[in-house]
Amino acid sequence: MDALPESVPFVGPEALERSRGKAFRARIGANENVFGPSPKAIKAMQEVVSEGWQYGDPENHDLRHALAKFYDIHPTNVMVGEGIDGLLGYLVRMFVEPGRKVVTSVGAYPTFNYHVVGYGGELISVPYVNDRENCRSLAAMAQKVRPALIYLANPDNPMGTWNRRDEISEMLDSLPQESLLVLDEAYIEFAPSEAELPLEIDDPRLIRFRTFSKAYGMAGMRVGYALGEENLISAFNRVRNHFGMCRVSQVGALISLADQENLRNIVNKVDKAKDRIGFLAEKNGLKALESGTNFVAVDGGKDGQFARILLAELVNRDIFVRMPLAAPQDRCIRISAGTKKDLDYLEEVFPIALEKSYQLYSDAE
Ligand SMILES: Cc1ncc(COP(=O)(O)O)c(C=O)c1O
Repeated sequence: MDALPESVPFVGPEALERSRGKAFRARIGANENVFGPSPKAIKAMQEVVSEGWQYGDPENHDLRHALAKFYDIHPTNVMVGEGIDGLLGYLVRMFVEPGRKVVTSVGAYPTFNYHVVGYGGELISVPYVNDRENCRSLAAMAQKVRPALIYLANPDNPMGTWNRRDEISEMLDSLPQESLLVLDEAYIEFAPSEAELPLEIDDPRLIRFRTFSKAYGMAGMRVGYALGEENLISAFNRVRNHFGMCRVSQVGALISLADQENLRNIVNKVDKAKDRIGFLAEKNGLKALESGTNFVAVDGGKDGQFARILLAELVNRDIFVRMPLAAPQDRCIRISAGTKKDLDYLEEVFPIALEKSYQLYSDAE
């Protein structure tokens, strides 16, 4: 155990508020969905809170069956778990033993890396190309090192960019037989249709992960799911925490899934908020990257040092935002789609924070 590095993939906004001694005015840094859960789901969850003395159904029967119906697949192709993060932990526990190689991209989703390191795996990372995770580089590295897993978030966090379905198919066709593609589709509901690989559920070469945290606005309820070939899915039963799901969350996810009209409204609101962040960036002389997610990466136009200053200046003005961790993506800051109130405030303070950042940056040169 002592050999394990003590790392935290993300420091939460609550921890930052405690260390600042002050609350944030705009919480637009964790890619949460500020528009919240479906009102129908809120009502259903309120109604079952009094059943909180009961464990949740360890088989997640109703939710798995509803998801199977939604995707027109069999319930044995669906595994529900404590968010994608929890399910990624189980997957890595199943596939990665000490010394086993895993391929990902430099600066891609850190929680996946955290699990790999925790189980003693060896991470091998390839660079992004033009701010996108690159399917060809991932496949070429996989051919070379024959990893247990290859990770691709599509669309990607932290850049919001995506690969097209033909690019992912081509990668799948060139992976070594012993390598499983981990396709993290946390943001797929926000993505353009070209990003969505058709669901070939019996294809044993990949496993897909989706969540109720983003488009369904339920990050705090912790519900994610894996879609894949039956044997792969049933293997989760060997390692998962069978009573890990919260009873209230199970109901909330079930009702949210049925409320697709709400989902469409949310995606619309998120699109409008992203457009507004794009205009705001442009108005201030910066460029926003096109995004298939619920956040926008805004290019600071300089290097990581400048983006870190800008981020700190926004945080100093009570705006919680985050930024990519690795170069060259770390020239950007990442702003989640906010409410009108969040973005009004951002619009007010952004030029001031930017101006101050230019000053501090040139003073340091
Ligand atoms: C790429 C990616 N995967 C997974 C997650 C976490 O999903 P969940 O809340 O279902 O654990 C996030 C959250 O930011 C994410 O960006």
